[in-house]
Amino acid sequence: MPTLAVYPGSFDPLTNGHVDIITRGARIFDRIIVAILINAEKAPLFSMDERLKITREVFKDFPNVEVDTFDGLLVDYVERRRAHVIVRGLRAVSDFEYEFQLANMNRKLAPEVETVFMMTGEDYFYVSSNLVREVASLGGDVTPFVSEAVLARITDRVAERAG
Ligand code: PNS
Repeated sequence: MPTLAVYPGSFDPLTNGHVDIITRGARIFDRIIVAILINAEKAPLFSMDERLKITREVFKDFPNVEVDTFDGLLVDYVERRRAHVIVRGLRAVSDFEYEFQLANMNRKLAPEVETVFMMTGEDYFYVSSNLVREVASLGGDVTPFVSEAVLARITDRVAERAG
């Protein structure tokens, strides 16, 4: 049976840390669905359409990477898609407690769905969407942390927000 994995998140914005996990996940699983959570934040940097577009652009040459959106419970989405695995990236120890809770709650809700953790690449263990947003909004250079597709849009977006 082909292994279908779901990699859920807010991806606001997609960082090189996410790209690293998706790229490695695409080598392990037959298919990986990047599932973007709808309405995760009240005032997102990028709209859902933009996040979809950016992620699809970055993975356009990966035939086994699909990009989709979801709302409601993650495990309901995973079951609806007939997937078996949830993929999460682990950066530093600080991620562990939340991820441990999430994985255990999801296992209680859907025991047949397995959460698989992948260690974030060593170049990205300190990179998060929150920090990228903050650095960009304060005029810092986020080139090392995001793909061209994000970079092309983030400067304008931050400027628009600053008014
Ligand atoms: O990018 P994030 O914020 O780390 O992703 C968190 C995400 C989307 C995985 C989590 O918030 C989630 O699964 N939300 C969907 C609602 C849900 O299922 N909540 C219960 C999880 S125990």
